[in-house]
Amino acid sequence: MKSAFDLSEAEMRSYGYKIVDYIVNHYANIEEETPVTAASREEMDAVFLTEAPEKDSKPEEVLDFVLQNVIPNCNLTMHPKMYSFVPGPSNFISAMSDSIATGLNIFSGGWMVSPAAAELEIVTMNWLLKIFNFPVKKGGGIFTSGGSMANLTALVTARRIKCGDDFSKAIIYLSDQAHSSNIKAIRVLGFKKEQIRILPTDVDFKLSINKLKNEIAKDRLLGLQPFCFIASAGTTNTGSIDPLNEIADICEEENIWFHIDGAYGGAAILSKKGERLLGGIERADSLTVDPHKWFYQPYEIGCLLVKDASWLSNTFSEKPEYLRDIEGNESEINFYDYGIQLTRRFRALKFYMSIKTYGLEKFRSAITYNIKLAENVEKILRKSKKWEIISPATLAIINFRYHPIDLDLTEKQLDVLNQKISKRVMDSKKALLVTTILNGQVVLRMCLINAKTSIEDVRETLLLCTNFAAEILKEAN
Ligand SMILES: Cc1ncc(COP(=O)(O)O)c(C=O)c1O
Repeated sequence: MKSAFDLSEAEMRSYGYKIVDYIVNHYANIEEETPVTAASREEMDAVFLTEAPEKDSKPEEVLDFVLQNVIPNCNLTMHPKMYSFVPGPSNFISAMSDSIATGLNIFSGGWMVSPAAAELEIVTMNWLLKIFNFPVKKGGGIFTSGGSMANLTALVTARRIKCGDDFSKAIIYLSDQAHSSNIKAIRVLGFKKEQIRILPTDVDFKLSINKLKNEIAKDRLLGLQPFCFIASAGTTNTGSIDPLNEIADICEEENIWFHIDGAYGGAAILSKKGERLLGGIERADSLTVDPHKWFYQPYEIGCLLVKDASWLSNTFSEKPEYLRDIEGNESEINFYDYGIQLTRRFRALKFYMSIKTYGLEKFRSAITYNIKLAENVEKILRKSKKWEIISPATLAIINFRYHPIDLDLTEKQLDVLNQKISKRVMDSKKALLVTTILNGQVVLRMCLINAKTSIEDVRETLLLCTNFAAEILKEAN
């Protein structure tokens, strides 16, 4: 029977080929595209705001409208000159794999519905467990929509395993550089403000161990229950890594759950340097990594790994009568038992296909290249008398500001100047280089995890910045 949604085979083919051509053009010519866009709500409303149409339209007309109006009004997160936030470099194989997963609407919740989808999640999870030196037999994990959901899933698990139903005295610790998704997760879980300890970081933006020890001791004296520490393995601001081994020692001594948020930085373990810097990551009870960041995957794929897979099933497994027919045997994992979602898209497919196609070696060399690139940018900046490094290249992030030594500018003037430089770069639409605040100073933050970004791209962007700086200073005089 034909449904109301069916197109003819010829229509589907021409529609699909047009989309594939568009995507291929994007991958093949991204350097020539304009990475940045900006539009106000009014401007976007003027283009898009309509009532839901009662009547149909020709498929290609809607497609053309979308390609002409939607895409140009979205920033290109894969562009080599996207330096801000954590860019999304992606890769073509995974993009195509995602279209298979969505095209066939494969359900990745229960074993019986899609055994191969569950198997690929088990297989790719084993790859990740091995990469991070987690126990492959006992350990486990799950793909999530991203790092935020992985952190939330970790904290739900930590609380269930360490506190059971009574968490009224539970205390959770993290540094002032931990990602905001952790605080969000803590709030979602219903912890009160008094149950959260946000600890200061040292000059390198790493957790200060002595402060942690003092806080735990104080809380024990008050009869409270220190139950979880969230470390960062690659903070979003600077890429700094908390002292993982020292924190692991404390967590073991104190019977505290050790969660590591390695959403952005974890992937660096595939490089020699990253492996050294991330020493101790294998001692976590739970670890967030985020393949849609530095594993070059398209959105949305995050991941949570745990030392003991039964922690996840003990936390999330529910056995409603309407799912009893799809319960397999114990080895046949139903991923809806490992996390929050029941219906889940087939995220493992893109991870599987891209690793199978490119091999880990290509990922290792891309990550090694990105780390080296950040170090080379640091060298360029250090050679110039115009730039000041605020935090050195760490796991492909570097923070700096325009601060010519021959100009006598106050901190306030430097803040305004660097904020303006960032704004003008954005307005030029040639690159995205936004600011963050470190030690109270406005700084330009560059996150260099795109394997297509060349040192020439960075040089051009720095030149753009210095030209704008000259312009701004001239205007002020
Ligand atoms: C360290 C860290 N943790 C968690 C997240 C949140 O991840 P997502 O945006 O995938 O939810 C980010 C995002 O940048 C991050 O850098």
